Amino acid sequence: PTIRLSDYQEPAFWVDTVKLSFDLDPTATRVTSKITFRANETRADGPHDLKLDGRNLKLITASINGNAIPADAILQDAEGLTIPSDLVPQDGFVWVAEVEINPSANTALEGLYMSNGMYCTQCEAQGFRKITFYPDRPDVMATFDVEIKGDAPVLLSNGNKLAHGIWHDPWPKPAYLFALVAGDLKSYDDTFTTASGRHVDLQIFVRDGDQDKCAYAMDALKRSMKWDEEVYGREYDLDLFMIVAVDDFNMGAMENKGLNIFNSKYVLASPETATDVDFERIEGIIAHEYFHNWTGNRITCRDWFQLCLKEGLTVFRDQTFTGDMRSHGVKRIDDVLQLRGRQFREDAGPLAHPVRPEEYIEINNFYTATVYEKGAEVIGMLKLLVGDENYRKALDLYFDRHDGQACTIEHWIAVFEDATGRDLAQFKRWYSQAGTPIVKVREEFANGRYTLHLSQSTPPTPGQPDKLPLVIPVRVGLLAGDGSEAAPKQLLELTQSEQSFDLGAFDEKPVPSILRGFSAPVILKHDVDNATRAFLLAHDSDPFNKWEAGSAYASDMLVDMALNDGAIDAAYLDAIHAVALDDTLDPAFRAFAVGLPSEEEITSAIVALGEKPDPDAIYGARNALSLAMAQKMADDLPNLYTAMQVDGPYSPDAEAAGKRALASTALGLLTKLDGGKTAAKQFDNADNMTLQISALAALIRAGAGETQSAAFYDQWKSDNIVLDKWFAIQASCATPDAGLDIVQQLATHPDFNWKNPNRFRSLIGPFAMNPAAFHRIDGKGYQFLADWLIKLDAINPQTTARMAGLFETWKRYDKKRQTLITGQLRRIADTKNLSKDTSEIVGKILG
Ligand code: ARG
Ligand code: ZN
Repeated sequence: PTIRLSDYQEPAFWVDTVKLSFDLDPTATRVTSKITFRANETRADGPHDLKLDGRNLKLITASINGNAIPADAILQDAEGLTIPSDLVPQDGFVWVAEVEINPSANTALEGLYMSNGMYCTQCEAQGFRKITFYPDRPDVMATFDVEIKGDAPVLLSNGNKLAHGIWHDPWPKPAYLFALVAGDLKSYDDTFTTASGRHVDLQIFVRDGDQDKCAYAMDALKRSMKWDEEVYGREYDLDLFMIVAVDDFNMGAMENKGLNIFNSKYVLASPETATDVDFERIEGIIAHEYFHNWTGNRITCRDWFQLCLKEGLTVFRDQTFTGDMRSHGVKRIDDVLQLRGRQFREDAGPLAHPVRPEEYIEINNFYTATVYEKGAEVIGMLKLLVGDENYRKALDLYFDRHDGQACTIEHWIAVFEDATGRDLAQFKRWYSQAGTPIVKVREEFANGRYTLHLSQSTPPTPGQPDKLPLVIPVRVGLLAGDGSEAAPKQLLELTQSEQSFDLGAFDEKPVPSILRGFSAPVILKHDVDNATRAFLLAHDSDPFNKWEAGSAYASDMLVDMALNDGAIDAAYLDAIHAVALDDTLDPAFRAFAVGLPSEEEITSAIVALGEKPDPDAIYGARNALSLAMAQKMADDLPNLYTAMQVDGPYSPDAEAAGKRALASTALGLLTKLDGGKTAAKQFDNADNMTLQISALAALIRAGAGETQSAAFYDQWKSDNIVLDKWFAIQASCATPDAGLDIVQQLATHPDFNWKNPNRFRSLIGPFAMNPAAFHRIDGKGYQFLADWLIKLDAINPQTTARMAGLFETWKRYDKKRQTLITGQLRRIADTKNLSKDTSEIVGKILG
């Protein structure tokens, strides 16, 4: 059934306290719950039945106020149970129940399940109902006491530890923040003292042998705790903060109160096993989950439609944190690349939905790039519009006013209105209107005055044919002919469909730098000639727009090459050559500037022109341009590569990582010229994963690297996190002709343990994101993906549904490919017992 925001109703009963007792057993765990219910005075429409959510639970006994409820008085179905109102004291009561569950049989990885012999839980969004009967909705907040009986040496739950296996969490929380972990784990320990002097024990729990891979995550945690105090005034609120690394996990990580559970690949890192990108991601995710303690846990969501209330804000906070730790300019480029690659793609297709959706079938399908990443963009715009000081004022008010509450976007907007006096009614449309707005720019220079004419429109999306104008902050700078700033930068507020902005008097027409810092998540349409792009690439003081100028230049050229056999513009090669060698620029920035737009980006640029993309032609164009870049820079590449080598022991800091990123870009180009000699040497001498895998990737892309790949496997076959990389790199770097054979082979590899989500994703995901290999004209790539989705759906609906989104772009392609893809989608849709997760996604994609 479809769940609707407009149907929201408060529960008939609130919960004050929950007492849980677990008797752990791999196949027959007993869970006893004692729940104190209180009448919800605002629900005067009683008398009320007691309705509790519950799935896959064997009910042993149940009582109300000590009176056993006869079995025939309990109405039970697949989703839960109902006790008729005449057995339910309407002013409040104590519910006690015992249920039995089977963690070993839980392959969906939600609720209580087993991973490598340890017990762990995932309750967001609706996993708690697979542990015991409960009003499993985030507006029901209660304090939890937990007792765990089992022979594992480590027995963990939320809150403060009273004794071995005994836990008390004083902060009322929704059930989705509940967690339990039990197993033979080792901890890596540290401490933190909060600004007001609270002593906090910090523990990261891992499998024995992995303790030496925890130092970076721990350091990131301490920096996150300090940052949240300094930047948001938020202190930690328990005596203990724990993180557990788990190998089988559907998502990245989970912010359970005081007991964060992580996909192990986002915790464990050593120089030998993790790349620079891995270190940065670990830092960001550790921060994200920690920041949820205030934005998510202390203030939570009233219902799941409000998911962006915690996720958009927390992503925005972790992005700012990473920018503060590293470089804001480079971080912004990285984030916008992600946003365009995943969120714009989603917004342009059949799965488009607003940042705050208004209906869903399966909430797990809404943990999307739109809710998370566009949700964060909306916060960023709000901050730009009200200013830094007002933003902080509004956030202080938010924490002050709503601590301990389950809130909505209306509450969030209201604190900004109250703190700043600004009317945000129009701004709020960002939360309800799906689709990526298009902003068109026309310049006018007349009688010495310079005017920008802006217009906005948002294309129709499923269920939303007509769109209203949004409030779009457009940050603009103006450059003089010598590259200096001709006027102070300003923030234009585009609120109408069409609007003109007089930017003042100038002797000569300035060159505009529009949407600096990517100040709004929109598609900017502005006819700019290549000379202007080269000028901006050389002179723009805004790092984002400087990069964007080069990127748009390359993109236009690649589109022209792929569609019309267009030629390579020598001026582009000159410009990019200059940037590559410009020592005044941060190497991390240069690496982004020299890296060409991805095949996915070129594809969407072609689609935006109303043309059909040819994956082979796009692959060919990109290869041809990078070969031309390599030839153009031939004399300088060896020196650049050498200059970017980092001496001394490996450190994942931003500066060293930036150098290695540029070295790796140079290596990719060099490999086109030297037959892989430099890459092979780098592979042999590498003492860290960044160097090892970038060498391997360069070789595989060049159609070589067989010996190195075999050596890599031999070296790392017992490290699952590294082995995932081995699967992924072969699928993502495979040449178009070889791709399918390679992944089919790999899918029969003894280490392709497809039931593990990381392993499944590491092969299937990169293959489907390798356009020329996946979109083979014989349709065998599509069949491969569909076969695996059907197989996985039977055991893990959540991960299957997510991966089914890989088909969302089918309408971009030619008729032949469309028919092939929809054929596979129908085959999935027709599968017997298909999960509601996958069927919602596939149904929407088919439209
Ligand atoms: N709240 C978690 C995070 O951002 C995501 C958990 C989602 N899990 C799920 N099964 N839907 O950080
Ligand atoms: Zn989150």
